[in-house]
Amino acid sequence: MNIQRLRVHDFRNIRSCDLAPQAGINILCGDNGQGKTNLVEAIYLLANLSSFRAFANRKLIRHGASAARIHGVVCVGETEKELGVQLLPESKTVKVNGKSVARGVDFFGELAVTLFSPETVKMVRGAPELRRRFLDTALSRVDRGYLLALKEYRRVVEQRNRLLRMVRDGRVSPTALQPWTVQLAEKGGHILHRRCRYLSELTPAAVEIFQQLHHKESSLRMVYRAALPRSLMAGTSVDALDTGALTARLADGLRQSERMEIQAGGTRLGPHLDDLLLEVSDRPARDFASQGEGRLLALSLALGEARLFERLKGHRPVLLLDDVGSELDPRHQRLLCEQLPRFGQVFLTTTEQPMCDKIPVCRALFDVKEGEIALVMGKQK
Ligand SMILES: Nc1ncnc2c1ncn2[C@@H]1O[C@H](COP(=O)(O)OP(=O)(O)OP(=O)(O)O)[C@@H](O)[C@H]1O
Ligand SMILES: [Mg+2]
Repeated sequence: MNIQRLRVHDFRNIRSCDLAPQAGINILCGDNGQGKTNLVEAIYLLANLSSFRAFANRKLIRHGASAARIHGVVCVGETEKELGVQLLPESKTVKVNGKSVARGVDFFGELAVTLFSPETVKMVRGAPELRRRFLDTALSRVDRGYLLALKEYRRVVEQRNRLLRMVRDGRVSPTALQPWTVQLAEKGGHILHRRCRYLSELTPAAVEIFQQLHHKESSLRMVYRAALPRSLMAGTSVDALDTGALTARLADGLRQSERMEIQAGGTRLGPHLDDLLLEVSDRPARDFASQGEGRLLALSLALGEARLFERLKGHRPVLLLDDVGSELDPRHQRLLCEQLPRFGQVFLTTTEQPMCDKIPVCRALFDVKEGEIALVMGKQK
């Protein structure tokens, strides 16, 4: 999958740009605060219809402008599509080949991107929610059904929590919980199974990349940690169970903890509370990885995700690497740059010219300055 043409108007500090990115590596080089991440954010938004760093449209529209527009010509094999997003302060319109798309889910997959940004690194040390979000986002990109199942699951958790509070306050009988508990276990079992299966496919891809990037005898392990009572697992790991068995375990767990959940007024078991344990050389990365190691680990997960996407979908996602080289020493920067030609279209931001020089086959180099993006090297169509 490639973006052949990209036009951005009044988005963040970008007043207007019209680019013809190349199929391989595109570098966006510029000093701090010039608009590099803004351009990456615009591409991400064209793919996902949301930003990775702001929720309100108002923050994304250029100060003083009334609307932001992002327009891309995307090609997969021989097929070419025109995608357009217009952001107004309180709404957005989305078009594919000039025709409006009413629902976000119908736009799913038109442009697939894999993102690495300084935010991605936070998942190594941050709260479990960040690791869950990484898994859910990656999995949703390859499986629209998962995205819909996740939405359903969240709705059930919310409803059940509301009901738990009503039972606690004596407004309804505990029997009212039953149908919601059954639904939560069923939907939760499905989510759990999909996550474990995805993780089993992602792990080898991420491990291989980690070894290539790290170039040291350190091993990477990723273990899914389900929020289920130990007594129910009886020495079995969640990834060894099928959807039915996971559903049954969740249902048992929920039954056991019902009284405690009523008191707490919230669901205390289920995939919305699970974690992903990341281990480097048998030690939790969360506690022991160095700054650079953490970055290499997060990078390996993102690049592994891109690799797996290609295997599952038959085409490569666009890779967005924001500020990827910072905190890496020159040797690790070089190891990373050597890997990049093995991916599809890449957009990489950097503040340093030396980082650009390490990339073996850069197809286009753009200079980013005060929101203006100019081609310095490469073919402009
Ligand atoms: N809605 C907006 N309208 C105008 N300018 C904005 C808007 N939102 C952000 N900016 C400006 O965009 C600039 C930041 O751009 P960006 O985050 O892309 O920088 P960068 O080139 O990635 O820098 P760094 O190397 O520090 O990461 C800031 O100067 C900020 O004030
Ligand atoms: Mg930036």
